[in-house]
Amino acid sequence: MTETLISPPATSLRIDGGRLLRRIRELGSIGVDPATGGITRPGFGPADQEARTYLIGQARAAGLTAGVDAAGNVIMRRPLPDDSAGQRTAVLMGSHLDTVVNGGPLDGAYGVLAALEVLQCCAEAGLETPYEPVAVGFANEEGALFPQPFWGSMALAGRLDALPGEPADHHGRPLRKALEEAGGNLDALGTAAWSPGSVAAYLELHIEQGPVLERAGTQIGVVEAITGRAVLTLRIQGSAGHSGTTPMEGRRDAMVAAALVVVAAESISGGQDLCRVATVGHLDAYPNTPNTIAGAVTLTVDLRDTDPVRLRSAEEAMRGALRRIADRTGTGITVTALTRSEPVATHAPLRAAIALSSEELGLSHLPLPSGAGHDAQVVADIAPIAMIFVPSIGGVSHVPEEDTHPEHLVGGANVLLHTVLRTLGHTPQ
Ligand code: GLV
Ligand code: MN
Ligand code: MN
Repeated sequence: MTETLISPPATSLRIDGGRLLRRIRELGSIGVDPATGGITRPGFGPADQEARTYLIGQARAAGLTAGVDAAGNVIMRRPLPDDSAGQRTAVLMGSHLDTVVNGGPLDGAYGVLAALEVLQCCAEAGLETPYEPVAVGFANEEGALFPQPFWGSMALAGRLDALPGEPADHHGRPLRKALEEAGGNLDALGTAAWSPGSVAAYLELHIEQGPVLERAGTQIGVVEAITGRAVLTLRIQGSAGHSGTTPMEGRRDAMVAAALVVVAAESISGGQDLCRVATVGHLDAYPNTPNTIAGAVTLTVDLRDTDPVRLRSAEEAMRGALRRIADRTGTGITVTALTRSEPVATHAPLRAAIALSSEELGLSHLPLPSGAGHDAQVVADIAPIAMIFVPSIGGVSHVPEEDTHPEHLVGGANVLLHTVLRTLGHTPQ
């Protein structure tokens, strides 16, 4: 890997910016809510399936091959005349196709479409490279509907033991059928795994989702490390009852317990000895009606830190708080799903390749950490990884206003192209 990175870089090859921006617009119309302008394309929902179909259609129309693996990931390649696809070590690039509820058009989609654009660019230029460029659209990175974030990248990285056997969504509906409709197969999940030697590098281009690049007036971010994360999905079981006739004493109110969980999460975050951030972003109460005590609540607690020890202590502290809250409220609290991803450092030679590519393209760059989770941190189990960030207008993401200036989107994709060319060992003419 290291020696290929010193290959001569400067090339006049550029991505087709107009084509990339058109695809971003088109994909951004799938799952859009006309009332809010936000995009709701949770993994394995109908809009996500539409997005998968759109991506495959674009890739095939470009003369590339595109298919869905057992986990629902879209895998795109150049057709090779000698039918040797998959025989060579790959340089993987991509991101995720799904969104949060009422999110924006760029989180994930930008990185997938830029990967497709780079692949198409390599194909059109007829580049012969020692490694094979492969683009991927990962399934269910967000976990908005099925609470298994990083689903697709975990399968690709072979982390099957960490995935539930029969995953279900927040309403208890099984993933099995939705996955099948997407072209996947729960019983064959192992076939989606790539072996460590099969991937030379994984590169992910993404919007920053924070304010650092915009404030600094810098065009490219070179990610140094990606935050670790533990997401606990909880079910609080109480007793439903009449809100007017049930005395306060002896109630088993799941909503009161949920409120205490929200406060407990806040109290273990933010301080110096605590985890960096903690969020309860999803909460469902049953039966969710004004004059009935909540009999049950499901909610998620999302804990993040770049230090693995602090992250573990925060999870332990949260579990302790849950036991105390259950005792105090007479409710039963169970963790029904848990996803952990460790903080991950990016690969120094790949970071250097991104910095060099930016400089050659006349783009300023700076190193920064990622507070958001990314498929890259999972793929890091089997390959060296790196991430390229572009500025987010107003520093916002996971909201309909999420946006990036077109010249930054195109610039970032060119940095991806040039970094991939270096990584592929291609020597430009
Ligand atoms: C992924 O989008 C995350 O929540 O960081
Ligand atoms: Mn996201
Ligand atoms: Mn993302």
